[in-house]
Amino acid sequence: MGRATPKSNRSQQKLTSSASDANCLPNFAVEELRSSLLDWYRQFGRDLPWRHSRDPYTIWVSEIMLQQTQVKTVIPYYHRWLATFPTIRDLASATQQQVLKTWQGLGYYARARNLHHAAQQLVGQHNGEFPNDLEATIALPGIGRTTAGGILSAAFDRAVPILDGNVKRVLARLVALPVPPAKAMPRLWQVSESLLDPQQPRDFNQALMDLGATICTPHQPACLLCPWNRQCQAYNLGIQSELPMSEARAPLPHKLIGVAVIWNDQGQILIDRRRPEGLLGGLWEFPGGKVEAGETIPDCIRREIQEELGIDVEVGDRLTTVDHTYSHFRVTLEVHHCRHLSGEPQPIECDEIRWVTLAELDQFPFPKANVQIIEALRQSRD
Ligand code: ADE
Repeated sequence: MGRATPKSNRSQQKLTSSASDANCLPNFAVEELRSSLLDWYRQFGRDLPWRHSRDPYTIWVSEIMLQQTQVKTVIPYYHRWLATFPTIRDLASATQQQVLKTWQGLGYYARARNLHHAAQQLVGQHNGEFPNDLEATIALPGIGRTTAGGILSAAFDRAVPILDGNVKRVLARLVALPVPPAKAMPRLWQVSESLLDPQQPRDFNQALMDLGATICTPHQPACLLCPWNRQCQAYNLGIQSELPMSEARAPLPHKLIGVAVIWNDQGQILIDRRRPEGLLGGLWEFPGGKVEAGETIPDCIRREIQEELGIDVEVGDRLTTVDHTYSHFRVTLEVHHCRHLSGEPQPIECDEIRWVTLAELDQFPFPKANVQIIEALRQSRD
């Protein structure tokens, strides 16, 4: 567990002395907070494509894409996804390969696999329709409490609160939360729920997201333009830049991976599809694995390829080195050209293997770090 780190003694003193009065939101303040936020949203709210829709499927897709990805990155993916899978039934009947290919580049691929599985559940159990019901929504894979609130409020105007990363920051400042948000989740949910306008939940939640994204930003929040500055405890204490308090984080673990681009005599390359579970499940990759203590990169590659695919390779020149950071670890891929020597490749530790040409690689969904390998391969052939 991390340790809470106050950003300065000054903020800690002020937070300690203001903690009790920050705990409650009187009714008159709630009314004023709702109306000032909604007025601000009518004037300054963002015009985003999913806000033109009331179709729960399209709103669901947008909310899942927005979970870990910024709005400007999401927009082209959102349009492409809906052009490819216009309805829940279209998504449910697609192959996982099509789904992952359409998602390629957005990262966090479990989101795409969950959307696909959830669409299949909806076709099997809900007649292909998205439920207007909190319990049934949260039961779907990939949908937690805040995503459910985002979907149900936007699609059905249901009064279900949200608490995503931006909203946590807004509310932590509003009440001058004296601990990191992760230590006060029940309280933050309570604040989100009590603020939510039961007459206009859809607009209220969208407005709260926009406030976090455009005014109450992590650094240098634009408090002078904020409709909530009169009631904001952090602003009134002059500690808005010091909140929310952060959790001390351990550095991400690092893995060194030996990766093989294995060529056969026909100029084809061997790729494998990962098993369906896990971070990059269902995606294609160049085979390889973790370098063990005392092992050289070529030793690692020969061993991994024998264990994973049951073949012998000759390890040749280094093609490239790729550094990539995932949510919970960092990797360095040391990539070498290899030549197939003997044995018939078998999918011992993966789902499927294929010999493909350089041109055919584009048909397969690869994780980002592997796309960099493909680019290096193409450059080396130019
Ligand atoms: N992040 C999550 N949901 C969002 C939405 N509906 N609009 C903008 N950003 C979001």
